[in-house]
Amino acid sequence: MAETLSLPRTADRALLYQSLIPQIRTLVADETDLTANLANIAAALKQGLGFFWVGFYLVKADQLVLGPFQGPVACTRIAFNRGVCGACYTQRKVIRVPDVEQFPGHIACSSEAKSEIVLPAFKNGDVFLVLDVDSDRLNDFSEVDEQALREVMRLTEELI
Ligand code: SME
Repeated sequence: MAETLSLPRTADRALLYQSLIPQIRTLVADETDLTANLANIAAALKQGLGFFWVGFYLVKADQLVLGPFQGPVACTRIAFNRGVCGACYTQRKVIRVPDVEQFPGHIACSSEAKSEIVLPAFKNGDVFLVLDVDSDRLNDFSEVDEQALREVMRLTEELI
């Protein structure tokens, strides 16, 4: 397994994702441990796209619990009815938030996070985990990000 990422020198996210996603596939291809794979997916997205915070929250009993992540320390437990992550879990869909201050109930783990996208991954029809990506810029997530991160979630679903 190649343990370094090779990325084009561009700020064009479509090109960055195009290069990164196959490399993520390779990174996880020969590893069966879920924690190891989630850790490398978070690291690859953080390194490749330069987001402020990238990480997973896993469904455990009646809460979302912090899993592998890259970025500043974050809240460890999120109730299903709280925050953007909770909304993603209960609504079972991708939630894109252009301005976190406008999202009722947003949980501010850091005052530097300005916009956010959260995506669910399913196992046997239930949400198994969510991927949370935070940016320190307002309105930083477009359809390009959403489609690419959806692809990352499909890849993640193959691991769980
Ligand atoms: N902002 C999230 C909480 C997780 S942190 O951003 C890492 C939310 O509102 O669910």
